[in-house]
Amino acid sequence: MKIVGICGSPRKGNTEWMLRKLLEGAIKAGAETELILLREKDIRACDGCLSCEVGGKQRKGICRIQDDMQHIYPKLVEADGLAFGTPVYFEMLSGLLKNFMDRTCPVWPKLELKPIVGIAVAEEGIGTAVENLKTYSSVCGMRWVGHVTALAKTPERASKDKNVGRRLELLGRKLVHALRN
Ligand SMILES: Cc1cc2nc3c(=O)[nH]c(=O)nc-3n(C[C@H](O)[C@H](O)[C@H](O)COP(=O)(O)O)c2cc1C
Repeated sequence: MKIVGICGSPRKGNTEWMLRKLLEGAIKAGAETELILLREKDIRACDGCLSCEVGGKQRKGICRIQDDMQHIYPKLVEADGLAFGTPVYFEMLSGLLKNFMDRTCPVWPKLELKPIVGIAVAEEGIGTAVENLKTYSSVCGMRWVGHVTALAKTPERASKDKNVGRRLELLGRKLVHALRN
């Protein structure tokens, strides 16, 4: 069982810590995990060519942009479960994570039925960020398992909150249990 986490923060901060905590819970429940830090990757913007969809119903499923997404596509397709994390920017998900989502256009039908959890962290208010993650999950036909949010401004703030840590570990375990059902 493999869980892949996707971190949509451009800094080493709360989102990364929260995803690591969640993945710890998944490991304790018996899963293998991998965390992909989008900030370390060369992922260009989707250019909207739709060549990944050429052929009508017979999707080509290949993106012509040669960057780090080419290594990430197989990881997404092979993952048994996913965990997406985002800082809240202007009450929405981060641009880094949205750009990543757009680039999943070639493979999103292959994500169908995979269980997914979401994490969002904001200074004052989560706004629509969790809804943004749920919308992506629903468009892809994935199974939404749950989410954890936190309020934090400085990069290490969320890690001081033991309650958030507990909720994250529990959600990691719940994600693994969802794989078994
Ligand atoms: C461009 C930008 C926009 C932000 N917009 C919001 C916002 O709308 N609401 C909010 O409560 N916090 C907002 N924040 C604060 C971040 O969500 C907060 O610092 C969070 O802890 C960042 O997570 P990270 O440490 O994982 O990067 C914003 C921060 C930045 C840099």
